[in-house]
Amino acid sequence: MRLLVCGGAGFIGSTFVRIRLLEHGDEITVLDKLTYAGREENFRDFADHPNFQFLRGAIEDPAAVAAAIAARAPEAIANFAAETHVDRSIAAPDAFVSTHALGTYVLLEAARAHRLRYVQVSTDEVYGSVDVGTFSEKSPLAPSSPYSATKAGADLLVQSYFRTYELPAVICRGSNNYGPYQYPEKLIPLMILNALHGDALPVYGDGLQVRNWIHCSDFARAIGHVLEQGIAGEVYNAGGPDEQTNIAVVKRIIELTGTDESLIEHVSDRPGHDRRYSLSSEKVRALGWAPRFRFSEGLEQTVAWYRENSWWWEPIRSGDYREYYERQYGRSLQA
Ligand code: NAD
Ligand code: DAU
Repeated sequence: MRLLVCGGAGFIGSTFVRIRLLEHGDEITVLDKLTYAGREENFRDFADHPNFQFLRGAIEDPAAVAAAIAARAPEAIANFAAETHVDRSIAAPDAFVSTHALGTYVLLEAARAHRLRYVQVSTDEVYGSVDVGTFSEKSPLAPSSPYSATKAGADLLVQSYFRTYELPAVICRGSNNYGPYQYPEKLIPLMILNALHGDALPVYGDGLQVRNWIHCSDFARAIGHVLEQGIAGEVYNAGGPDEQTNIAVVKRIIELTGTDESLIEHVSDRPGHDRRYSLSSEKVRALGWAPRFRFSEGLEQTVAWYRENSWWWEPIRSGDYREYYERQYGRSLQA
């Protein structure tokens, strides 16, 4: 397929591009604004591939989107572009509103004008928190943070374009992703890098919140199944095979990095913190998808990747991320 992948310079988008380019032979144009989270380093292993092209631009900019479509006449748009960190959405929601609302609207208009298939990459957070049981695609939307509320708004807009204009659009909602190339503001890479540097491990509240972990390559493959086989207008959940409390994840990272539990520091809880996420994935499994990674094996692989790829994270940890960290956690990182 010829694909326009928006937000393809980020963690999951670049994983998706790598898989589609190298395993499926797709022709790919990435359109990405390169926010703090978007990095050309994520393309290092396939930047020279003849079927790959990168254009810098914002999805809320109609001219940038038109140029990206003109570049290689895609058959479909996959939209990964987003502001993705809940804590940043609490501190400064504005970019979340413009990228998720206006950006999604501009892409939908472009898809409508060119009659392109469209897949919106979304999140389990749109359903809110669930104490017992599991969310299905029919669960009501009850988002908690500006991040998840604006993602839910984008999903509703996508569904309106299917209902009103018969745009062949699908939505794929993933649970918490982990794996190589994840920006270190997120729980798992933050804890790995802090442990490797002897920095404190900041656990929000009691640490008993539960997340449903999925390896980024598994989520990327699920999005591929939905893109190719999903029924227009439908939503598909893709949840990982394992749920874990945050404190259990942190303790396992301590074992894998050979550090010790004295680094754990319980800090103030996140406002509006969702207690538990859990997704059923029967609908996407019916399309032939199944996760390949159990969390225990994927976490070991992820810790090994961060140990071996300091070229990737050193420029982040010595750059703007340090200031973000000080603002968010009220303390500095070790050098
Ligand atoms: P990320 O933060 O690593 O990457 C986001 C990418 O989008 C970056 O490359 C950034 O530069 C780009 N971007 C941001 N605003 C843009 C704009 N206005 N125009 C163009 N590009 C823009 O995020 P990620 O973790 O890879 O998440 C990708 C998608 O998957 C998001 O839509 C997110 O909501 C969804 N998702 C993430 C997770 C997770 O656990 N990380 C789980 C489920 C769903
Ligand atoms: O569920 C899917 C979502 O997962 C995605 O849509 C989001 O883009 C992604 O950021 C992620 O959201 P979370 O808020 O669940 O991920 P985060 O890594 O920020 O936090 C995971 C859990 O760990 C959460 O309960 C908060 C906690 N936490 C996080 C950080 C960064 C801590 O205890 N300490 C921390 O320093």
